[in-house]
Amino acid sequence: MQVLSVRNLNRRFGAITVAQDLSFDAAMGECLGIIGPNGAGKTSIFNMLTGNLKPQDGTITLDGRDVTGASPHSRTLAGLGRTYQVPQPFGQLTAYENVLAAAAFGGKAGDGAEARARSVLDRTGLAARADKPAGSLPLLDRKRLELARAMALQPRLLLLDEIAGGLTEAEVGELVALIRELKPDVAMVWIEHVTHALSAVADRILAINFGAEIASGLPDAVMRDPAVLEIYMGAVIDVPA
Ligand SMILES: Nc1ncnc2c1ncn2[C@@H]1O[C@H](COP(=O)(O)OP(=O)(O)OP(=O)(O)O)[C@@H](O)[C@H]1O
Ligand SMILES: [Mg+2]
Repeated sequence: MQVLSVRNLNRRFGAITVAQDLSFDAAMGECLGIIGPNGAGKTSIFNMLTGNLKPQDGTITLDGRDVTGASPHSRTLAGLGRTYQVPQPFGQLTAYENVLAAAAFGGKAGDGAEARARSVLDRTGLAARADKPAGSLPLLDRKRLELARAMALQPRLLLLDEIAGGLTEAEVGELVALIRELKPDVAMVWIEHVTHALSAVADRILAINFGAEIASGLPDAVMRDPAVLEIYMGAVIDVPA
């Protein structure tokens, strides 16, 4: 079942194009990867999906409902969760309190938010660190917490923005295993520079440059596409040392 459908998305900032006639979809249980060099427009595309940035043209459909003009708040309630390129927990609050705040979002007292928060902490491997201040957690756990906060909203669509950045190879492996476990329950769109991690999870990849599609299809084919190779050979990307 198609959860996200984007058609002919367009957006410029003056001379900079961040989306040029982009169309893509994500179905329940599926992961669409998005790659492209720094400044290609990837995060801006997420900001349009979440309602934080208005497209100049195009439509965004969530579960068959046109949300192109809908507020970020209403999209969250409609089932959109995201993680941020720079993790943004409430640093003084514990991991549990951070997840509880997300679990309770839009809900009522007594609707099971506490149990939901505990269950998401379990699922993301954070149960043992639940009572630690979020700001004191090591990077991999802060990434787990980003996932936990997004999953606590019980999203239908999960947007991941460069969640693998800055981790060691072993940590990337752990994160990939966790993302694979979450994948059946959501439609996922994952922006990532750590392309081997992305290729291990994504069903399809969309490559963009200057906001425009340069290749799309199966991960292996996209990673071998001459237009993609040309950009990645000349770009600084997060490859393990
Ligand atoms: N609100 C804004 N106003 C003006 N320019 C912006 C705005 N937001 C982003 N840009 C510009 O749009 C371009 C794309 O930015 P964006 O953050 O979407 O790139 P990105 O593909 O996510 O890059 P990275 O891989 O570095 O995260 C950049 O040149 C950026 O400076
Ligand atoms: Mg970005």
